[in-house]
Amino acid sequence: MATDSRQTEVLYPDGTGLARAAGLLRAGELVAFPTETVYGLGGDARNDDAIAGIFRAKGRPRFNPLIVHVADIDGAAAIARLNDDARRLAEAFWPGPLTLVLARRRDARLCHRVSAGLETVAIRVPAHPVARELLRAFGGPVGAPSANPSGKVSPTRAEHVLGELGGRISAVVDAGPSTVGIESSIVALSPEPTLLRPGGLAPDAIEACLGRALRRPAPHQAGKAAPESPGQLASHYAPRAALRLNATRARPGEALLGFGPVACALNLSRRGDLAEAAANLFHALRELDRRGVARIAVSPIPDRGLGAAINDRLRRAAAPRV
Ligand code: TXA
Ligand code: MG
Repeated sequence: MATDSRQTEVLYPDGTGLARAAGLLRAGELVAFPTETVYGLGGDARNDDAIAGIFRAKGRPRFNPLIVHVADIDGAAAIARLNDDARRLAEAFWPGPLTLVLARRRDARLCHRVSAGLETVAIRVPAHPVARELLRAFGGPVGAPSANPSGKVSPTRAEHVLGELGGRISAVVDAGPSTVGIESSIVALSPEPTLLRPGGLAPDAIEACLGRALRRPAPHQAGKAAPESPGQLASHYAPRAALRLNATRARPGEALLGFGPVACALNLSRRGDLAEAAANLFHALRELDRRGVARIAVSPIPDRGLGAAINDRLRRAAAPRV
């Protein structure tokens, strides 16, 4: 098991590096790896000690289940039951930035801790070629939350992982920046298709595939009943700086995080492209933290397409910290 006293190995995403990464996973060690959305912190989803180590390394509450990553639909069908809607979505969008919450099979070879003892399990087939190669080399399900300390901004580069979890995990596979840059969209299929977390796949694409609208649970409020997705607490994805949203200009003492052709400290996308803004978002928040900015004002971001996920993360980053 990874301990704080060891150095984290940085692995290159070639045959040798991925064989080493797969060997470490087999030995119950923790390995961070790139996906197209964000970097994940992987452990063998069948190994209770490895999964316990992930919760420990992140400081993650035990009630918050992990996403299980598999290489293909067959890998998903071995651990969960896919109804017609699930199959339709999986065939259309896997591999890709979509996570499905499905009924866990009784005979699934998964430890219970990975899904926090729930009867459902969240599953994703990532599209990043390095993630796919690692899953193939390992040959089993990999439990992987985003590779950041609980409550902090997700990592989109290996150096983000090293900066915050270095010394607490065995290795990180470095394959450069994640291209989508925002976590997967999470859809629960039962009793009806529900968008638990907007993410890297635009909600309208999911709805077009299903032929009907997604249910959207009301935002969770502190002190109220448990949220439908255990991770959807109001304050999350927080940088150190305080945020003010929908700002047309910076007030004294603020740095403007821009969108579109505006004068600002950093721009998410000068040409107003939502995919580019999503890819830049988490690095930009970290960069403003690095510059020691105390207050960030953020330009308005349209709520269409990937804008829904960007605004969701910004609202959580701006929420009172718990
Ligand atoms: O893009 C992503 O999804 C990244 C990459 C690494 O795959 N992973 C990621 O994992 O964002 P994490 O742990 O940061 O977020 C997983 C979310 C949490 O909000 C958790 O509550 C939810 O998935 N989740 C996991 N299992 C669930 C279940 N059985 N029912 C409802 N929500 C679940
Ligand atoms: Mg996360």
